Amino acid sequence: FPAENIRNFSIIAHVDHGKSTLADRLLELTGEYQFLCNSVALIQSIDVFMSPLETISPKRDNQQVLDKLTVERERGITVKAQTCSMFYKFNEKQYLLNLIDTPGHVDFNYEVSRSLAACQGTLLLVDASQGIQAQTAANFWLAFNQDLTIIPVINKIDLEAADTERVINQIENSFELDTKDICRISAKSGLNVEDILPIVIEKIPPPSGDINGLLKAFLFDSWYDTYVGVICLMAIVDGKLQKGDKIVSAHSNLKYDVADIGIMHPERFSTEYLHAGQVGYVILNMKIASEAHIGDTFYHHKHPVDPLPGFEPAKPMVFAGIFPIDANEFNRLDESITKLTLNDASVSVQKETSMALGQGWRIGFLGTLHMDVFRQRLEEEYDASVIVTQPTVPYKIVYRDGTSKFVRNPSEFPEQNEMSNNVVQLQEPMVMATIIVPNEYLGNVMDLCGAHRGEQIEYNSLDELRVMMRYALPLAEIVTDFHDELKSRSSGYASFDYEDMGYQTSDVVKKMNVLINKKPVDALAAILHRSQVATVGRDWAKKLSDVIPKQLYEVAIQTAIGGKIVARETIPAIRKNVTAKCYGGDVTRKMKLLEKQKEGKKKMKMIGKMNLIMNEIDVHLLDF
Ligand code: GTP
Repeated sequence: FPAENIRNFSIIAHVDHGKSTLADRLLELTGEYQFLCNSVALIQSIDVFMSPLETISPKRDNQQVLDKLTVERERGITVKAQTCSMFYKFNEKQYLLNLIDTPGHVDFNYEVSRSLAACQGTLLLVDASQGIQAQTAANFWLAFNQDLTIIPVINKIDLEAADTERVINQIENSFELDTKDICRISAKSGLNVEDILPIVIEKIPPPSGDINGLLKAFLFDSWYDTYVGVICLMAIVDGKLQKGDKIVSAHSNLKYDVADIGIMHPERFSTEYLHAGQVGYVILNMKIASEAHIGDTFYHHKHPVDPLPGFEPAKPMVFAGIFPIDANEFNRLDESITKLTLNDASVSVQKETSMALGQGWRIGFLGTLHMDVFRQRLEEEYDASVIVTQPTVPYKIVYRDGTSKFVRNPSEFPEQNEMSNNVVQLQEPMVMATIIVPNEYLGNVMDLCGAHRGEQIEYNSLDELRVMMRYALPLAEIVTDFHDELKSRSSGYASFDYEDMGYQTSDVVKKMNVLINKKPVDALAAILHRSQVATVGRDWAKKLSDVIPKQLYEVAIQTAIGGKIVARETIPAIRKNVTAKCYGGDVTRKMKLLEKQKEGKKKMKMIGKMNLIMNEIDVHLLDF
């Protein structure tokens, strides 16, 4: 395929604006031009293609083939970026169009930037009824900063609430994009979708690159496959790569054999060969996903090249403890977690032991949605029952002796006395948030940001109806219920995205312990802003006392900062009078009953303790 007949592009949009639906339509549309090809022929000449094969049959209505995982389907979100090659005939020429599907949620921004680096252009898809949202803006800037050709497309014009002209105005005002020939489509019905590919071919430049140069291959995505191990997606920038080649990672210097290579169609289709300008999969003898460094450059061994500017690896920023509900399940769960993390290099895993919950893991995620998806996959694909503790962010603790460490677990957070004696500084991670909100909810949203220690950095009117604001916010404030609160305070109309802003000194957080019968329950420790301590302390004690069932013994629940008790609740013991129905008659029977009660008491104490723990955790997760 000559490079001038190749286009590498992606679709970027706010969540639910219809990326996957549009991708499906494009794949259907190109189906008639699909050919099953002889591997070498694909590269050498389009004319030798053999029997026709459709990429997606139009009968499989709206299957969103690019969103492969079940969880993604259920949640309607794209988690892992997927790439697909399409063939398209235009002006009597055959084109190879590589569509890179990008994820749309805030947690997955890093995947957007790495997949954008493999493209020369992108479709900026905007919902005609919702207009520009926070992620539309964030994604636009990512693409703009990478010098991509940006083609705006208005979707969902079939909706009654569509206000296409208003949205076009927003695009002109906010992004200064040319909207003269803008595509107005319905990805759902397919209306006007056929106008898109000719524009892609005309406006997006073909990849530049030297097919005869030394190999330079850019790794922009990877995942783990149970049968073949790690699968890498690569854009061949210069040169050629074929099956059997020996290549070296510029990042790790490790050498690999190319076991298989080809295009995603949308499933893997082996071509045994890819050249400059093409995008496809490469299977190396890589066993774990963490060997595949996103942004890495590969070259032929013995022919090193200067690496392409790489990316920072994605850093986990939200940490939670995960424990098996049944301790006997530990080994099985350990295996499942290993398998899941093989598939997701952005998750970090460490073993952890909790007094209350036993052996488990402390797992780091990119964000809370990432965590939910991980938990759901564990439960659904690996049939595991787990307890997940409240998420926390990594705090940096600087000690008097000049050393410092990151704390990712509330149970390791310094207690009050250590804080005052040994710690000179506490730093917490900050984010820069972009929020777009209709004018009528502005007050609510500003109050919410204020209550979460937000500092307004920027304020702009998007049009006469909506405002775009930028806020500096502590990450800890947004990992729990900020997003839900934002949605409820704006009746679902505010949209939100954030990027990393580094660490800032903070003297406002404290560790609160929950003590049950004077013993701290490590899994329930929390790091709180000092203004929250009194209310949350009282609240937790009360809630725990409401839900923990009465035991055969008295249960005292306390919340405390250091030695200082914030709140206390007591659950009185229950006593069952089992002899009441014996009417003082048969002594042996009475003895037997008492004996039975003693046995029962022993058992209940055990079960009671278990129940207690289970209840604490359930409440902890559901209500706090
Ligand atoms: P993420 O993968 O979560 O980022 O979402 P997405 O942008 O891929 O959106 P998706 O394609 O899943 O579409 C979201 C919803 O909008 C689905 O229920 C689609 O059926 C619907 N939808 C997509 N395009 C159109 C359209 O043109 N008209 C109408 N009425 N609905 C559409």
